[in-house]
Amino acid sequence: MDKLAIIGGRELYGELEISGAKNSALKVMVACLLTDETLTLTNVPNLADVRQLIVLLENHGVEVDRQGSRLDLTAGSITSTTAPYDIVRKMRASFNVLGPLLARERQAKVSLPGGCAIGARPVNFHIAAFEAMGATIEIEEGYVLAEAPDGLKGAIIDLPFPSVGATEHTMMAATLAEGRTVIKNAAREPELSDLADCLRAMGAKIEGDGTSEITIDGVQQLSGATHDIVADRIEFGSYAMAVGAAGGELFLRRGRLDLLGDAATTLREAGLTLEEEDGGVRVSRWGKPTISTNITTAPFPGFPTDFQAQYMALMAVGNGTATITEQVFENRFMHAPELMRLGADIEVDGQTATVRGKTTLKGAPVMATDLRASMSLIVAGLAAEGQTMVSRLYHLDRGFERLDEKFQSVGALVERVKDEE
Ligand code: UD1
Repeated sequence: MDKLAIIGGRELYGELEISGAKNSALKVMVACLLTDETLTLTNVPNLADVRQLIVLLENHGVEVDRQGSRLDLTAGSITSTTAPYDIVRKMRASFNVLGPLLARERQAKVSLPGGCAIGARPVNFHIAAFEAMGATIEIEEGYVLAEAPDGLKGAIIDLPFPSVGATEHTMMAATLAEGRTVIKNAAREPELSDLADCLRAMGAKIEGDGTSEITIDGVQQLSGATHDIVADRIEFGSYAMAVGAAGGELFLRRGRLDLLGDAATTLREAGLTLEEEDGGVRVSRWGKPTISTNITTAPFPGFPTDFQAQYMALMAVGNGTATITEQVFENRFMHAPELMRLGADIEVDGQTATVRGKTTLKGAPVMATDLRASMSLIVAGLAAEGQTMVSRLYHLDRGFERLDEKFQSVGALVERVKDEE
């Protein structure tokens, strides 16, 4: 298991290219199951989760051709409608093959993904949506067995919470359902609109993505298409927060302020300068300290839960006290005790953390607990005096492309250390 050694205290200067969004690529790749023609994707990040999904798609009969960041996916015929536990448990987003398989093959058997480090993460909204669309669903031995012998039918789906996964999953399946599906209280995340753009290029009839009501008129079949994956706003925001903690100035190519939603305002309030320029966003913080600013996570355009851990690291070096309230997942403060190992002053009470900013953190060995939490340890490590050693780097390799190289290219003293254990 690799580790990352960070020597903190250096400002970051230069430019970086933001990769394609993991959370978009994983859904858009699954859309290849909806057609027997080739779906070509560009700007696909080279990440462990993407490689894992390729294994699953191949298991369903998809021919995969990868050339750098371009992927050609052809699901000429579906050779298996079963998504096995061994693959799904490693990466939750693979559960989203259920809807496309059900829509195209009228049956699917997909392992339940199980909980993860940040919460129980049930899939009840997904299942209720497919039942409303006429599928019969049973849960047996850890698998979801779904059947719709007469095909899926359009329905009105009113989501209890604007779940990203449930909205995307329902939208994909509804493209091949008979009649109209309306998703109410839909998620509005940019990756969902990216998926809708790809599905439209394939011939789907979708309106309203980016708002809380999405209408999909089912079509008989979809065709191949070419689609460029949107920039990863989580990677973009994470590098911006790294500048906030360490100081300096970075030009983040392919970054876009609209992808940050309300977080752009929060980061400015926290003392960062964010300027949109041709082809990207310039982020800087010079001299003045980070300003402690309260946040509450919320569905897009609210402050993203996927920024919360990195933001906590930023507030650990803030000039006062900030409260951070996590509303999306029930167990997403596992980074707090690790940040405290670096000297951060954090008190967690239920879903709210109170962070009392300090001018200096001190390097220490810390352990990554999940993908975004790992990035928060790096953000803090870059601001800390001395060496921080982040173990369990495999979490980061799931979601941040060439992270060590990217940081090195802008002057950070970070080095990947091979662990002998
Ligand atoms: C996606 C993102 C993840 C991000 C999250 C919220 C991907 C691969 N992952 O995850 O990075 O943190 O959105 O922005 O895109 N819920 C239910 N029942 C369901 C579905 C969800 O109770 O059937 C709950 C969840 O437990 C959670 C909340 O709804 O508390 C939001 O989850 P959701 O938006 O579905 O997140 P994901 O799609 O899993």
